[in-house]
Amino acid sequence: MARIIGGIGTAHTPTIGFAHDRQSPSDPVWGPIFSAFAPIRTWLEEQRPDALVVIYNDHVTSFFFDHYSAFALGIGDSYAPADEGGGPRSLPPIAGHPGLAQHIGQALMTEEFDMSFFQQRPLDHGVFSPLSMLASHEPAWPVPIVPLQIGVLQFPVPSALRCWKLGGALRRAIESYPEDLRVVVIGTGGLSHQVHGERAGFNNVPWDEKFMDLIETDPVAITEMTYAQLAELAGFEGAEVIMWLVMRGALSASVKRLHRAYYLPSMTGIGMVLFENQAEPPTKASVEAYRRKMGDQLRGAERLEGTYPFTFARSTKAYRLNAFLHDLIVPANRARFLEDEEGAFEAVGLTTEERDLVRSRNWRGMIHYGVIFFMLEKLGAVIGVSNLHIYAAMRGQSLDDFQKTRNAQVLYSVAGSEAKT
Ligand code: FE2
Repeated sequence: MARIIGGIGTAHTPTIGFAHDRQSPSDPVWGPIFSAFAPIRTWLEEQRPDALVVIYNDHVTSFFFDHYSAFALGIGDSYAPADEGGGPRSLPPIAGHPGLAQHIGQALMTEEFDMSFFQQRPLDHGVFSPLSMLASHEPAWPVPIVPLQIGVLQFPVPSALRCWKLGGALRRAIESYPEDLRVVVIGTGGLSHQVHGERAGFNNVPWDEKFMDLIETDPVAITEMTYAQLAELAGFEGAEVIMWLVMRGALSASVKRLHRAYYLPSMTGIGMVLFENQAEPPTKASVEAYRRKMGDQLRGAERLEGTYPFTFARSTKAYRLNAFLHDLIVPANRARFLEDEEGAFEAVGLTTEERDLVRSRNWRGMIHYGVIFFMLEKLGAVIGVSNLHIYAAMRGQSLDDFQKTRNAQVLYSVAGSEAKT
């Protein structure tokens, strides 16, 4: 069974990535950043964990306000560094851990955290700033990650207490994963800082020191604070430290501190802690009960013949093909598809199997492969095939035979203004 071996709290300010990429550890101004990270980097090299769960917030890079969510979990197999305006940093992409991530996602939903899930979104400095200091990464990163993005930028945001509770659920999620993984949970967020408005440049070193005391010995005291109370003490953006509570909530009530450092070079208090988890593993019976509960919602659905719940497994397997069909909602993409189908397949690198499925309009085959029905009706709308044709084909019936089973024999599709009669 998986175990959490430790927790790390770290700032994620771009200063850290800048220091890593362009400065020297021997520089008197930049050196303290390197030395703050060094003991944790050494510990990670010694411990060689199998996965890192990284709690961070995106800085309106990969998650915009067209769809902003509280808790977004990465369930994909790889994450590239994001372009935040001047090109991405020269770092290799980092592998995800889809198995662990999908188990965590399922567990958190079971614990009634209404998560959102992402694949293939690049990660910004919220993840890669500290990570580049925490692990050597040439030519590749030594450990996969499970990114957990917390939307702390558009209010209302999750409370400190909610983050703490999420940490407890995260612990149960990890500890019920069947593989013997050794996992480290990393909570990120700068200590005191404010980067907007006339209060920009606010810092509070005594509070930062107190916060690091509290996160170690009395995290519950932080959960009782509102965002405004934290912002008053830590600066508005400094209140993002509620993300450390997810990490702390995933650990034992008392922890062994292995490292603590603090440095304030410019705008953001760069605070770091490393805790060893002291928790006893859960009993086999409690893990089994937990896993059983995780399966509650879909238990029995396997008996429904001709039914294919759209699970993480199907979503990740058929992501490329679903994305290709989804892109047909853009007029230029469907024009290209209608003009040169093979060229459109080639442009996104569909596999031979995926091309065959679309080329032959194998509606049933696409469902079996992992395409969700709502992509089929989009393809139907593009090529002038009605929903009823698709339903009949999935059932393996002629349209006429299928229509006989309906109360009214009508044809319709989701095609709008471009619909052909
Ligand atoms: Fe941040």
